Amino acid sequence: SERTYIMVKPDGVERGLVGEVISRFEKRGFKLLGLKAVQPTRQHLEQHYGDLKDKPFFPKLVDYMLSGPVVGMVWAGLSVVKTGRVMLGATNPLASAPGTIRGDYAIDVGKNICHGSDSVDSAEKEIALWFPEGVCNYTRSLDKLIYE
Ligand code: GTP
Ligand code: MG
Repeated sequence: SERTYIMVKPDGVERGLVGEVISRFEKRGFKLLGLKAVQPTRQHLEQHYGDLKDKPFFPKLVDYMLSGPVVGMVWAGLSVVKTGRVMLGATNPLASAPGTIRGDYAIDVGKNICHGSDSVDSAEKEIALWFPEGVCNYTRSLDKLIYE
């Protein structure tokens, strides 16, 4: 099924919001396939955010993401890429609806707690980048209570 890469950024990790992010995806019914805390390297981040390298905020973004460990995860389920982004909220937390992660816990765009892949294609690239060792795959009896 469809997979996405969700990452709790250094501010989210330091603020103790890892469990909150995991919990929301679990309770929604998505399936956890991978989970890892890691101190990212500059090279890794420059690949991850390659599309943004010409943006004026890029150096600041990389410094922010280097400021501590991140927690990366892979979630699977129906429309999980798009739905995951809805659950995170708008990029700028001041524009994020209450009930979203950013809308409930963040204020500034440069400290917006979490990342979510923006397409199925970038999700697969990000999963390969952050989980080169691969992730789990399993079937859940629970799925019959979540999917019709
Ligand atoms: P991600 O899920 O983190 O990829 O966010 P996004 O897809 O909603 O936004 P985008 O990929 O365009 O930007 C990536 C990250 O760069 C954002 O989540 C912000 O942390 C940061 N960012 C984006 N725009 C700005 C900006 O104008 N100023 C600053 N300081 N940071 C920004
Ligand atoms: Mg993005």
